[in-house]
Amino acid sequence: MMNEIGVIILAAGQGKRMKSALPKVTHLLGGKPLLLHVLNKAQGLKPARITIIVGHGAQAVRQVYPNDDVTWVIQPQQLGTGHAVLCAKSSFQEFAGDILILSGDVPLISERTLNALIHAHRQRNAALTLLTATLKDPGGYGRILRAPDGELTGIVEEPDATDTQKRIDEVSAGSYVASAPFLFSALEKVKNNNQQGEYYLPDAVSVGLKQGKRIATMKVDDAREMMGINTREELALMEKTLQERINRKWMDNGVTLKDSNTTYIEEDVVIGKDTVIGPNTHLRGNTVIGARCQIDGSAYLTDSQIGDEVQLKFSVVMTSARVAGGAIIGPFAHLRPGSSLGPNVHLGNFVETKEATIGEGTKANHLTYLGDVTIGRDTNIGAGTIVCNYDGFHKYRTKIGDRVQVGSDSTLVAPISLGDDVYVATATTLRHDVPNGALAFNERQERVRQGWTEQKREKMKVSKK
Ligand code: UD1
Ligand code: CA
Repeated sequence: MMNEIGVIILAAGQGKRMKSALPKVTHLLGGKPLLLHVLNKAQGLKPARITIIVGHGAQAVRQVYPNDDVTWVIQPQQLGTGHAVLCAKSSFQEFAGDILILSGDVPLISERTLNALIHAHRQRNAALTLLTATLKDPGGYGRILRAPDGELTGIVEEPDATDTQKRIDEVSAGSYVASAPFLFSALEKVKNNNQQGEYYLPDAVSVGLKQGKRIATMKVDDAREMMGINTREELALMEKTLQERINRKWMDNGVTLKDSNTTYIEEDVVIGKDTVIGPNTHLRGNTVIGARCQIDGSAYLTDSQIGDEVQLKFSVVMTSARVAGGAIIGPFAHLRPGSSLGPNVHLGNFVETKEATIGEGTKANHLTYLGDVTIGRDTNIGAGTIVCNYDGFHKYRTKIGDRVQVGSDSTLVAPISLGDDVYVATATTLRHDVPNGALAFNERQERVRQGWTEQKREKMKVSKK
């Protein structure tokens, strides 16, 4: 079909300027590999097929997207962007539609721009349409060459450009739409007689012009979205751009960020209205924050959900954890994977939970480890309570009922089950189940020796001599 869109994403380069052992497109931006940013945009266009060109560190690059609805093509040697696209020729046999070519290192390009590019290409009936931008600092990009009347005459790469050409501020964004038959036949004619000895994809433009084909250009509205990442500095700057864009969106949606500069929200996070977020907060992955929450600051939440009106006091770390509405957590609490807290639960300072289901209104306010536990509602876990879930071989569960009072400094040795309305006396070590309504305590004699301290000190003095 003529109207079909295919996508080729270039991701075979090493990214030498990153000075990294990892392939460039696997570096993270906003917590997501660069390649995945580009791939997700491509997927948004619902193309007929997507082909990704990999080469350097191909295995690591493929791990970025372990699904099988894209085609991976190996470019054995990185002989240039034109050569890379040509490697995809066989996977586009009998494809008569248009091919959108994207760079794996241009992550912020928007779906809106790509749709506009495809639209412009079709409207002008072009053989190839390229995206351009005007930059204050065009260094490093391919420059757009035009005749005095504005007619496109070619693209020159930075290393091949004359000083005059280097002053041109219109650059190629590295995104193109081209009719498939034209693209591959043009690339077969491209030579590598340039400074870098590479087969340049942009040279398809001059091939097309020589053949009298129509080559169109479209200028991007916001040049920030076509910035490529070639260095760590560019990565950091783009991180900032992305963060500002996401933070602005949430502020526009009624979320207060006390210090937008130190609030790090990833793209897929969702936040309710009138939530107030303090400095140095990281909201990562698929985290969902309810409405009217208060996050004091220094919070680090990954793939976690908190309900409405939850208060996270200073310094809370949550990973794959869930907290229902009205809970108060922290300061200095650590909710590890599988923690699921009911409404109005209170967890205080230095409390760690893991695989813990905790019922409504239950409190554990100080210095406690709750791992592999199920706790009922309105129970109080005293300071310094430790659930011993691990014997060096296996993990065991602890069950604690409703309205239980666990005295401070108690140790519950799992597997163990405490019924409802149980009282555990302070400093008890429990190894056996306790039935509903019972008191559990250890028999231990308390002794006081008069004058012991003075005697001890005298003895120590003598032994020192
Ligand atoms: C490229 C363009 C330049 C444009 C700029 C926009 C070329 C020759 N230059 O320059 O006109 O202004 O992008 O960002 O195309 N790659 C391969 N195989 C290779 C070489 C590169 O797959 O043999 C991939 C890279 O992994 C990268 C992309 O192609 O994802 C672009 O390559 P890069 O070396 O970054 O090109 P630029 O110098 O940025
Ligand atoms: Ca680049």
